[in-house]
Amino acid sequence: MLVEVVQDQAALSERGGAIVAAQVRRKPHSVLGFPTGSTPLGVYERLIDVHRHEGLSFSQVTTFNLDEYVGLPTSHEQSYHHFMWSRLFDHLDVDPARVHTPRGTAEDLEGFCAWYESQITDAGGIDLQILGIGANGHLAFNEPGSSLASRTRVKPLTQKTIHDNARFFEHEDQVPRSAITMGIGTIMDARRLLLLATGVAKADGIKATLEGPITAMVPATIVQLHPHAHVLIDRAAASKLEYRHHDGVAEPV
Ligand code: GLP
Repeated sequence: MLVEVVQDQAALSERGGAIVAAQVRRKPHSVLGFPTGSTPLGVYERLIDVHRHEGLSFSQVTTFNLDEYVGLPTSHEQSYHHFMWSRLFDHLDVDPARVHTPRGTAEDLEGFCAWYESQITDAGGIDLQILGIGANGHLAFNEPGSSLASRTRVKPLTQKTIHDNARFFEHEDQVPRSAITMGIGTIMDARRLLLLATGVAKADGIKATLEGPITAMVPATIVQLHPHAHVLIDRAAASKLEYRHHDGVAEPV
């Protein structure tokens, strides 16, 4: 596990964008896994910059998003589908046929989840999975207690996550109560992981993830077992780590 601590959100965006862009340069037909949330937004802005100003093409890239609220149509402003298109895909030259987001309004949700898994397999697996982390250590919508071997499925959200995500809705009672999410096993199958975290609100989750025992109660701890996990965090998110020698560790991209 490579743990890289950078100064702040701006440095994380710069560095995270460079890592993802390097992956696409190295392999133009990369399969990328994307998260939503506020943490990766700067990385997405950086990718848009690289596309616009350095001419990097994403036309051969295949993408899979981690999760989606159950019940929100793709047009809903708070759907993760809408988030990804408005914040990233609309500004790149992606091929819409290669972009995959879970469908929260599928009639047969279970069948959809199995199909989504098969699409990932058919694409050759995910080369680089970018991840955020919930304050309670969740990955995607794999809440505490999720099986560490789980595959894409529907999961109920915890009260904590509903509360944390209520800021995006008018009222907390508008936040959907469940979501489709890639499983922990699905995420672990990716060839490389890039886990991002910023801010002191993530410091406890990051400490548990990097220095705690591996447990389903903190799903992100599973990254300790991944052979190519890169954890990119800012100083505030790293502030509770005991092993401060993580500071400044970097690898060329
Ligand atoms: C949601 C998403 C996660 C994301 C988390 C953190 O719960 N399902 O994939 O990592 O939010 O979001 P933020 O980056 O806004 O803190």
